[in-house]
Amino acid sequence: MQHQRVLVLDFGGQYNQLIARRVRDLNVYCDLKPFDMPLEEIAAYDPIGIVFTGGPNSVYEEEAPHVCARIFGLGIPILGICYGAQLIAHTLGGKVVHAKTSEYGKRRFSIVRKSPLLEGIPDESVCWMSHTDLIAEAPAGFEVLATTESCPITVFGSEEKKIYGVQFHPEVVHSEYGNKLMENFLYAVCKAKGDWTMAGFVQEQIVRLREKIGNKRVLCAMSGGVDSAVAATLVHRAVGNRLTCVFVDHGLHRKDEPQEVMRVFRDGLGMDLIKADAAEEFLCALKGVTDPEKKRHIIGELFIRVFEREAKKIGKVDFLVQGTIYPDIIESGKGKSAVIKSHHNVGGLPDVVDFEEIVEPLRDLFKDEVRKVGSELGLADGIVWRQPCPGPALAIRIMGEVTREKLETVREADAIFREEIARAGLERDIWQYFAVLTDSRTVGVQGDFRTYENVIALRAITSVDAMTADWARIPFEVLERVSNRITNEVKRANRVVYDITSKPPATIEWE
Ligand code: XMP
Repeated sequence: MQHQRVLVLDFGGQYNQLIARRVRDLNVYCDLKPFDMPLEEIAAYDPIGIVFTGGPNSVYEEEAPHVCARIFGLGIPILGICYGAQLIAHTLGGKVVHAKTSEYGKRRFSIVRKSPLLEGIPDESVCWMSHTDLIAEAPAGFEVLATTESCPITVFGSEEKKIYGVQFHPEVVHSEYGNKLMENFLYAVCKAKGDWTMAGFVQEQIVRLREKIGNKRVLCAMSGGVDSAVAATLVHRAVGNRLTCVFVDHGLHRKDEPQEVMRVFRDGLGMDLIKADAAEEFLCALKGVTDPEKKRHIIGELFIRVFEREAKKIGKVDFLVQGTIYPDIIESGKGKSAVIKSHHNVGGLPDVVDFEEIVEPLRDLFKDEVRKVGSELGLADGIVWRQPCPGPALAIRIMGEVTREKLETVREADAIFREEIARAGLERDIWQYFAVLTDSRTVGVQGDFRTYENVIALRAITSVDAMTADWARIPFEVLERVSNRITNEVKRANRVVYDITSKPPATIEWE
């Protein structure tokens, strides 16, 4: 079944994925594509509406991303956000000017004219701004629909052309009625039917997977993470034990993770799940290695070798399941970026397994949608809301060489941190949180004795897509409890620090 689709054109802004997620949350399927998608492809995509995202440029810069003006003649409704709104104004003959000062944060927003886009939004509300340029004149044939004190044209549009521009960011939660505005654009302007739901997705995928796989054999590398767990469960629901899963226990997992994976998926769901015990091999390979990239490389390589060994025992399979999700495949409008870390998932597997085709049942989904699918499939919250964990796991949360002792220390500290965050009910507010074993030792006093032990760093961040992140404002009482418990209960730790660095300039992981 072909869903109605909205096209979100990416002009390089920080909230682009968030815009796409908001659209999907409103039950309309959408794709995020680079701003320079050719016009013929846009027409062939046949969207019910197009959204231009924000972006860091000024429309007057030489290098600024533009659109072909013919896009406005396609008869498809368009919503421009921030830079996207300025681009509409500029391209259609309005006027964009440099403001004297940049404007960031909350502003009072006043509606000055009725419009389908603003239906159901009170005359006065709060919106969230982040811009330097502003629109001084709307193009001919467009009306000013809303203003703020410092930005006379905050929303403009034409009901007849179905083209609208909003200077503020409706996608962020600080814009009180931002979601309502998005909903209005989709339902009142684009006439969406709301045919994108996770329950529907699960039903369709099961039918599709059954058709595709038939009575052939499928193999899946289960990492314990949300994506591979949900992908495997979906395939298992469709074809039962024609699916075999392999879980590589590299000994670098968080506390109780391997046991939980076996309990939930093998004992609970009855999956054909094989555990490859390879902890010794990994520890051996990591001996004496301190460089983070080298650790990643060794772990990635060895993971593939161990998986290959297990796969050989199974023999020829027809399909390989991968838990690829949408953010892994989005092509951004921003051009090439430098490699900061060589993230490894299980990308090398296709080269070593004897199979005919890859199955990626989640490749259209954002992380929060994957979670919803997991819940639809009846997976417990503990699995569905599990923290994202990097492939190399605790090995890159130990500064320097990885040893059995250090693994034990960071694993226990991490477990305490996670327990206390859960106890405080904060799991869903914080994007990622974990403990790091630093390579510093400091002097302490315990009882009447001097200690000289390790420093544990706590890292907790909020983020949308892990590209940028802010440190989470965890209540002091929670941090206090975590610190107390770690210094009391964890061997070889006598000091706890909290990381208050955003990304950039830091990264989320310490290595
Ligand atoms: P950084 O540290 O680059 O992390 O800000 C961004 C996100 O990626 C995760 N991460 C990894 N994931 N293999 C992975 O599969 C890796 O080597 C790796 N390094 C970082 C990190 O946990 C965060 O979610």
